[in-house]
Amino acid sequence: MSDAGQKNLPPDSERRRVLRLLGKGSVAAAFAAQIGAAARAFFPNILYEPPTKFKLKRPAEYPPGFTFDTTHRLFVVSENDAFHVISAVCPHLGCTVQWRETEFDCPCHGSRFDPHGSVISGPAPRGLSWLDTGISPDGFLEVDSAVDVAPGFRFAPPKRQV
Ligand code: FES
Repeated sequence: MSDAGQKNLPPDSERRRVLRLLGKGSVAAAFAAQIGAAARAFFPNILYEPPTKFKLKRPAEYPPGFTFDTTHRLFVVSENDAFHVISAVCPHLGCTVQWRETEFDCPCHGSRFDPHGSVISGPAPRGLSWLDTGISPDGFLEVDSAVDVAPGFRFAPPKRQV
């Protein structure tokens, strides 16, 4: 090798210092990655879903007829001081059905349901779910969307809460 080529190289001690720093940096980075991976184990991959049991409004706040609840995607039906709740989730592919005065219509693929949620025309494979409905201790309608009840179910809250 010529002298001109060696003039640009750092002296041996400088090269060793740089290599030592790179080595220590690599060890520190690997150690930090291990600590991060171990800390990640304390946060498991869990999908938190909203609770299936939730409160709606007080019974007296619902006018007679069908009231759509956008938050929970359901219809509260008030008839003669009794209530039932019908899911607005289409059993075909999960679109939100709409109430059209005499029937529920699904805007996605055209399923139609009667006022009780029974299928008038498909492609929905079954009717809309009727959801378990009751009253909370503090006087709000309470629904458990994980529990279906038979169509025809009615909940009549105690008179003082209507
Ligand atoms: S999602 Fe309602 S008909 Fe397809």
